[in-house]
Amino acid sequence: MRFDIVTIFPAMVEDGLRAGVVGRAIDRGVLAARVHDLRSFTTDRHRVVDDVAYGGGPGMVLKPEPILRAIDAVAKEIGAAPRVLLTSPQGTRLTQQVAERLVQSPQLLLLCGRYEGVDERVRSRVDEEISIGDYVLSGGELAALVIVDVVARLIPGVVGDDQSVADDSFSRGLLDFPHYTRPAEIEGGAAGQTGTISDALRVPDVLLSGNHAEIRRWRKRESLSRTLERRPDLLESAALDDEEREILRELIAQQGK
Ligand code: ADE
Repeated sequence: MRFDIVTIFPAMVEDGLRAGVVGRAIDRGVLAARVHDLRSFTTDRHRVVDDVAYGGGPGMVLKPEPILRAIDAVAKEIGAAPRVLLTSPQGTRLTQQVAERLVQSPQLLLLCGRYEGVDERVRSRVDEEISIGDYVLSGGELAALVIVDVVARLIPGVVGDDQSVADDSFSRGLLDFPHYTRPAEIEGGAAGQTGTISDALRVPDVLLSGNHAEIRRWRKRESLSRTLERRPDLLESAALDDEEREILRELIAQQGK
């Protein structure tokens, strides 16, 4: 899969793409990402990418022509019309389900919005607007990096162990269960009071038991109880197996007590 990202802050996006799972996938050639500097598609001496809004008002609007030229340049490079996404707080909210749909496309062009907005005429070339949440960022660069990360994780071979993606919180519509690593016991104590001796913080016994069936059931139970407590809305569309439905019934019955 190939991502093209059009931005006025190419260094910021390139830095973000170099790190972690996405960076390694790019190095290994499992994923391609090209960052395009919007300013290189301007034709004036000052490489201006924005202008005042017609009708007045504060803030600058991204000019249409450099963006349209950038889309045309990517189209030429890939030899096809790119699928164009615009990052915008007015867009479809990014969810795991949306990411699963986006990964079906062999190529995505992400236009990073900026300032007060983007000239409306650009939207004629945009397939979909994507928001990463109900808040306003100063620009779309962080949103584009979030989209690349979420979608890239779904490409086979990007995350080392495919099973870990299938088990991810949200892949099945549930929150994740708690994770522990060694040591099995650490000294407790209130935050900021190092050296305070209080109850030891222990890893739940079941995880040390070596009983894999019990561990699996414990994890299901923890996932379900967390989801019930923190995000009960997710349970409406979660894909539960018979065992999970049974555990959920027990948890709900306990809640009532
Ligand atoms: N640009 C500004 N805010 C945004 C958001 N919440 N999601 C995507 N792009 C944005």
